[in-house]
Amino acid sequence: MPEDHFGEEVAQRYDMSSADMFDPAVVDPAVDFLAELAGDGAALELGIGTGRIALPLAERGVRVHGIDLSEAMVARLREKPGAERIEVAIGDFATTRVDGTFSLAYLVFNTIGNLTTQDAQVACFENVAAHLEPGGCFVIEVGVPGLRTLPPGERFHVFDFSAEHIGIDEYDVETQGLISHHLSPAERSWKLVSMPFRYVWPAELDLMAELAGMRLRDRWGGWAREPFTSESRTHVSVWEKPAG
Ligand SMILES: C[S@@+](CC[C@H](N)C(=O)[O-])C[C@H]1O[C@@H](n2cnc3c(N)ncnc32)[C@H](O)[C@@H]1O
Repeated sequence: MPEDHFGEEVAQRYDMSSADMFDPAVVDPAVDFLAELAGDGAALELGIGTGRIALPLAERGVRVHGIDLSEAMVARLREKPGAERIEVAIGDFATTRVDGTFSLAYLVFNTIGNLTTQDAQVACFENVAAHLEPGGCFVIEVGVPGLRTLPPGERFHVFDFSAEHIGIDEYDVETQGLISHHLSPAERSWKLVSMPFRYVWPAELDLMAELAGMRLRDRWGGWAREPFTSESRTHVSVWEKPAG
């Protein structure tokens, strides 16, 4: 089992520290997009966390299942109204199987990067393909690797700097590794939380999908179907398992 980086301490602050991601202006377009793709079928969220997307999606009438490694994150989900409609399996989403088949599987908020090896990311696509019905879709929302922000020889990129939060990404270009460091004020000092990721290119994801028998259907710059361009900082990609 991979290391759980979302233990009790992270889980209890998650909704507050990610408050901007819970804003309806962020959540609603994602839920609209996903509900449309799910149609009458069921949806599987990999890394369901505290239910930021799963709960409003279930509210729209979509049957949502989830997989997550963190008992602490899922305990927070369980405290929320509507959680009784959502079944969650505790395990690694690269390998955990759940009962049933799905018209949609999705992995949002850069969570594919929580799998820190290429093998694990490939396994995740294979696991998704095994859960999807023919014609079903896999959606990933993830940042485009930010290497253009790095001058040669540099490995740190400050992506946020305010009185409440300092965010620094540390790149290891040789291994496609990224450690996201978050500093926040604590009693008379600062608290540091560092989380390891593997950054991954859109074209590499397409190849992983192909290895798992899926093909790219759409790539957008965001949930409102903004065009994906060479300036896009993030992408929402949709791969399809061929029908029949
Ligand atoms: C950034 S949070 C996203 C939570 C939720 N999807 C959201 O959008 O708010 C990442 C979630 O993925 C889970 N996670 C990370 N790696 C995982 C793995 N290998 N298997 C299962 N869950 C994992 C974490 O426990 C955490 O709940």
